[in-house]
Amino acid sequence: MNNLQSADKHTFLRNAWYVAALSSEVEEQAYFTRKILDESILIYRSKSGKPIALHDRCPHRFAPLSLGSRNGDNVTCLYHGLQFDSEGECVKNPHGNGKIPKACKVQRYITEERDGFIWIWMGDAEKADKDLILDCSKLSENPASSVGHMYMYNQCNYELLTDNIMDLSHIDHLHGPFINTGGKLSPLIPEITENREGKPLHVRWDWEADPVIPLIAPHMQRPDDKADMFLAVSWTEPSNLTLTLGTVQDSDDYLNDGIMLFDFHIMTPETATTTHYFFASTRNYKMDDAEYNEAKMAGMREAFTTEDKPVIEAQQQEMGTHDLWSLNPVLLSCDAGAVRARRRLSQLIEAENI
Ligand code: FES
Ligand SMILES: [Fe+2]
Repeated sequence: MNNLQSADKHTFLRNAWYVAALSSEVEEQAYFTRKILDESILIYRSKSGKPIALHDRCPHRFAPLSLGSRNGDNVTCLYHGLQFDSEGECVKNPHGNGKIPKACKVQRYITEERDGFIWIWMGDAEKADKDLILDCSKLSENPASSVGHMYMYNQCNYELLTDNIMDLSHIDHLHGPFINTGGKLSPLIPEITENREGKPLHVRWDWEADPVIPLIAPHMQRPDDKADMFLAVSWTEPSNLTLTLGTVQDSDDYLNDGIMLFDFHIMTPETATTTHYFFASTRNYKMDDAEYNEAKMAGMREAFTTEDKPVIEAQQQEMGTHDLWSLNPVLLSCDAGAVRARRRLSQLIEAENI
């Protein structure tokens, strides 16, 4: 295997919460499969609707369990009929005297469904602390007409996608006029706040917009006037980010007097060089306008898939490895936040592998 495909144990943090799927992707009855951290995962809902996640691999001859059938909350392997319960314990062996070998178990993963996401813990079960799940409660608290979720697949390492959000200076170079600030971001040195270990890392840009970017201007009281704007990103390991955009005129109370967007960018590695990208968004304006909500989400998808995704996938292709540091990249002032996130993640991964 070359570097492009291979991932060693130092590539992923295992004791961490990842989004496995959008709630809407996992139906009531059907099996859903997704590869996460190089492992095939079978996800399905129990009779009570709770998501169950099992390794999608029978311990006998490794047939994917997702090819088999459901018997209530149990799964039966298509190949030789072993049956497993939702904890991954074998409950039926149709062969010989029916004795169940001790090792006949399937790995079961802890899950938690919140705010339109199904989270999965890929590490030691006893370390799974649900309080560490990224707070996305705004997505449940706000009216549905102001909330959107989407999934995008990317042929690149997940940390390149983290870099893209941690360094928003790219907006003025890569993106079209709808969200481009007209060159305000790059000269700024973003303010970085690092809390104690385990707490998020924040990056923030503040600037005076004149005029306000077209995405926001029509919703301001004085669309043609200048305004104060900020962008703030919080990173939590392994690759769970919130992005807030605020715009205000003649006030410093962004939440009550201004326009705000609250975005969630959550990257889940499929392999070292492919990533499941989960995005969700809500806002504090036009909250009852479902039609606007749909158009806004479509606009976000379009911007990402036609502007960010092509360059990041091309970057990955050109790099030929998931290991950025092995290529000695030039560092610029705009990289400060992204580099800190990378450093912190690699320290956590190292600590896990000692
Ligand atoms: S491969 Fe599953 S029972 Fe044989
Ligand atoms: Fe972008």
